[in-house]
Amino acid sequence: MKSKTIKSFLLFLALTFVMIAAACGQSQTSTTEEAPANEPAEQEPAAKKKLLVGTDAAYPPFENIEAGEIVGFDVDLITAVMEQAGYEFEIQHTGWEPLFQMVTNGSVDVGISAITITEDRQKTYDFSTPYFEASQMILVPEGSDVKNYQDLKDKVIGVQNGTTGDFKAQELLGEKSTDIKKYETTPLAIMAMINGESEAVIADNVVVQEYVANNPDAKVVAIEDPDSFESEYYGLMFKKGNDSLREELSTAVQTVIDNGKYAEIYKQWFGYEPDIEKLKQ
Ligand code: ARG
Repeated sequence: MKSKTIKSFLLFLALTFVMIAAACGQSQTSTTEEAPANEPAEQEPAAKKKLLVGTDAAYPPFENIEAGEIVGFDVDLITAVMEQAGYEFEIQHTGWEPLFQMVTNGSVDVGISAITITEDRQKTYDFSTPYFEASQMILVPEGSDVKNYQDLKDKVIGVQNGTTGDFKAQELLGEKSTDIKKYETTPLAIMAMINGESEAVIADNVVVQEYVANNPDAKVVAIEDPDSFESEYYGLMFKKGNDSLREELSTAVQTVIDNGKYAEIYKQWFGYEPDIEKLKQ
């Protein structure tokens, strides 16, 4: 009787041990089983396609090549937008006119290049919510008699081909006027004016002001004409119909504007706070 009790006690101990061991084993297996099941969920953002962004990096302070790298307000902004939307991306210098073709044929996914959202461009491209307010400005050599846009009527005007500055020159002198000298980049248009090929350049205000500030020896003057130059708004540009990407990045643009990241980048590049109310049309 006594040995029976010991035996059953031993059996009880043995069973308990087996059960504890089994429980430990099970909990171990279940953690190891869960780990791989969790991995894909954690890595999901990395599964998004890496995006290609195109720009004409000859437009400081928006985009420029410095020490072999593309830098500028647009670059910092698109970096914040992509981070917000959870995309990796690569930015490429495409040039201005090729950028439009490359967005159309899909060799880049997005264009960011101080691109003004115009009615005409909206026929062929889709744009994000506006991220910058700009207007045209006139650049002339010191001593010029040009005081406003109308004064350019009998002048030779230099522009970057296919920009809103070009369109303003066409509006004044006629689409086919030979008095409009067209260049591949804005810095080339400005250099040509300084060399006497034209008498004025029309380009985006911030770019013109940046040029004047950085080139005190160039002897050029910037002229504003708010009555002739209406507000323009820059947007990210997409191939028409790419609605889901446009919506995702457009929402991200709005988020970085609303959460203060935009103001931070803006202040770094322009030295003062943006008026984000102006972006709400
Ligand atoms: N905002 C003007 C336009 O859309 C000029 C932009 C030129 N941008 C550049 N990166 N070159 O026509």
